Amino acid sequence: MLSIFVEASCNRYNRDECVDCHVYEPLGNLPKSEWHMAPEDARVMAENIRKVDSLNALAQQEINMTGGEASQNPDIVEIFKIFRTVTPNVCLHTNLDINSDQSKRWLRLVEIMKLGGRIDITLYPVSWEKFQKPLLKKVLKLQNHLLVNVVFENLQDLNNQLGLLLNFFTEEGEIYDHVVNLLREYQEKVASLLKTEPDCNEATYLKHMGNTGSFAQKKEFTFGINLLTAFRVDALGRRAMTSTPFPKDNYLIECPAARGSIDIMTVRQNGDMTPCCDVGNLQCQPRFGNLLKDSPEKILENFEASSKIMAIGITKNRENIQNAKTGEWVEEGIPPYCS
Ligand SMILES: C[S@@+](CC[C@H](N)C(=O)[O-])C[C@H]1O[C@@H](n2cnc3c(N)ncnc32)[C@H](O)[C@@H]1O
Ligand code: SF4
Repeated sequence: MLSIFVEASCNRYNRDECVDCHVYEPLGNLPKSEWHMAPEDARVMAENIRKVDSLNALAQQEINMTGGEASQNPDIVEIFKIFRTVTPNVCLHTNLDINSDQSKRWLRLVEIMKLGGRIDITLYPVSWEKFQKPLLKKVLKLQNHLLVNVVFENLQDLNNQLGLLLNFFTEEGEIYDHVVNLLREYQEKVASLLKTEPDCNEATYLKHMGNTGSFAQKKEFTFGINLLTAFRVDALGRRAMTSTPFPKDNYLIECPAARGSIDIMTVRQNGDMTPCCDVGNLQCQPRFGNLLKDSPEKILENFEASSKIMAIGITKNRENIQNAKTGEWVEEGIPPYCS
């Protein structure tokens, strides 16, 4: 997947409602003139994606337009159309925290859905009843697939959020039975863990959740769910070593780039690329070239050079972890949680 930042601003962090949003620090201070990706930049990116085989292959899986809040970009429909010339699979990640169906942000999402794009949402319990829920009902009339990201602070929070979704899809009727079954399976597992081991570590949680699938599929509707642990972020925008729900365990990421494979590439608005699974917020220093400024040849050179730096940094990270130096940054600029 190619994850492309198309907007630096976000209504939620502007209102201080996502105080721990991990893209706030890298994006939040940009001048207003740089908030929105311009269609001209999207055109250059699209052209370059087509020319670099490995990027094109990722784009064919999916281009995900993210940010910030992508629906705040006034040109997002045009940008969508530009990326659509690269791949049929273009989706948009939104907070769906929109106060009316007359809002320009909502109308942009509607246009994108009508053109065949998919909207994915992050569930925000404080916005759910008033803003997200009524619009999600309308989303279901416009697209027959949906991916929901659930970011949780602890098991009780996860249980509550699953409950919101479960009630919602139950009310929506029989056509969503398969979604209800999947959500119920998750909720039963979380509820039983809450009874027996509410303060468990991550390994216990993962074992208990077992291999519950992430998708519920039927020809009428496909539903996907991502359960994501929340992280605290420091004043420099650096993520904590441990996740909020499982504070006793270091949260280690197996870096795909250092392993030699790239599954996701994140493209910042300025064109910088990082092969990171985590919306580019981890502050990984080695760049995989710049999609706006570099030639395809230069990008490929950077791929190779940066992969080597990552592999070295990650070896050092592993040594640090073994030598009780967990959390220290290495000179290669590889975050200490990447192994
Ligand atoms: C930065 S948002 C951008 C897309 C859109 N504005 C949204 O809110 O869904 C992308 C994802 O990052 C998640 N996220 C942000 N900060 C986080 C944190 N500190 N810990 C875990 N997830 C976080 C959000 O919940 C969301 O699913
Ligand atoms: S080293 Fe970490 S931050 Fe850098 S690309 Fe790999 S997983 Fe992402």
